[in-house]
Amino acid sequence: MSASQLVQRLARPEVLAMAPYVSARSGAGADGVLLNANEAPHALVDDPSWQTLELHRYPAPQPEALRQRLATVYAVAPEQVLITRGSDEGIDLLLRVFCRSGVDRILETPPCFGMYRIAAKIQGAGVVQVPRDPVTLDVRPEAMLEQLTQDDTIRLVFLTSPSNPTGDLLPDGLLDALLAASKDRALVIMDEAYIEFCAHKSASQLLSEHPQLVVLRTLSKAWGAAGLRCGAVLADPAVLDLLGRVMAPYPLTAPAIAAALACTAPAALAAQKDMLGKLRRQKEALVARLLACGWVRDLWPGEANFVLIRVEDGPGLVAHCARAGVRVRDFNGQPLLDNCVRISIGSSDDMTALNTALDSYGAPA
Ligand SMILES: Cc1ncc(COP(=O)(O)O)c(C=O)c1O
Repeated sequence: MSASQLVQRLARPEVLAMAPYVSARSGAGADGVLLNANEAPHALVDDPSWQTLELHRYPAPQPEALRQRLATVYAVAPEQVLITRGSDEGIDLLLRVFCRSGVDRILETPPCFGMYRIAAKIQGAGVVQVPRDPVTLDVRPEAMLEQLTQDDTIRLVFLTSPSNPTGDLLPDGLLDALLAASKDRALVIMDEAYIEFCAHKSASQLLSEHPQLVVLRTLSKAWGAAGLRCGAVLADPAVLDLLGRVMAPYPLTAPAIAAALACTAPAALAAQKDMLGKLRRQKEALVARLLACGWVRDLWPGEANFVLIRVEDGPGLVAHCARAGVRVRDFNGQPLLDNCVRISIGSSDDMTALNTALDSYGAPA
């Protein structure tokens, strides 16, 4: 089945039938005398660094230079890139296009990133959960495949590699098996928010062979640009065309576009390599330290820029660190994550502060 046939089969009929909104900037060029968007004739800011951004103009909905840049960075064709306000927006768009409220469902493997089910709930879509192994927190490939094969209400299968909060990679062969099982009936979403932190290859190299595959990438993690809110959905143009229909007309701000180009400039690659090396060394030191702590019961080092631990009293550890001015993430109370705490790897000063906090943990007050 071609990508166009697949989206005809899977997308919400209302979205397929709808004529997309044509904004001033998407319907005409941005050259010449611009009197088609009710903009002001000039910006009111007089700082020269803001003036170059032409803030009085609506920005291009999908700026070509940034689309080209992200296509190069992610080694795909520009037509396979939709720039979004972070992966969060990509997840939301997928739900809104492919899941009918009260009818269609997503499949996820908790513990996993929480926005998949939140976006599903907001859309009124069901959530089928195939929980991970309660002891190892590994995904259960056979159970996932069985669920997908027997349930034809599943429209979107959410996978994360490396995952959050467990940091593990998808087991070898599972993506291929899920792509085979989902053929002509569901989209497989590979969320690669943390892939730059590990040596594993992106699934985007499989896009041309599998129209049902969608890859999510972001500048929020390994590109040091969470404040930009910029990510990309990589997929067949037929899928991206439908996502574009439900997206806001001008999703990206002019400052974000300029900053995203600066953050991904070829020179930034060297800075990224340097940062990734430092984070790797900092993480190794933290893992060694945690392994030597008597109070750490389980440790999932994972492949990303964080570690997950289980301790006797997770909320107590989180509160202790907060008193020392260090915020770590409490997962206590979430299914399979009792007393689990996720610690992001920060700068060497951040890790010194963390280590100072950990030094006094468990010591008599
Ligand atoms: C697995 C995963 N996907 C997506 C996101 C959201 O990324 P973005 O900042 O691009 O919206 C996160 C953020 O923590 C994440 O952990």
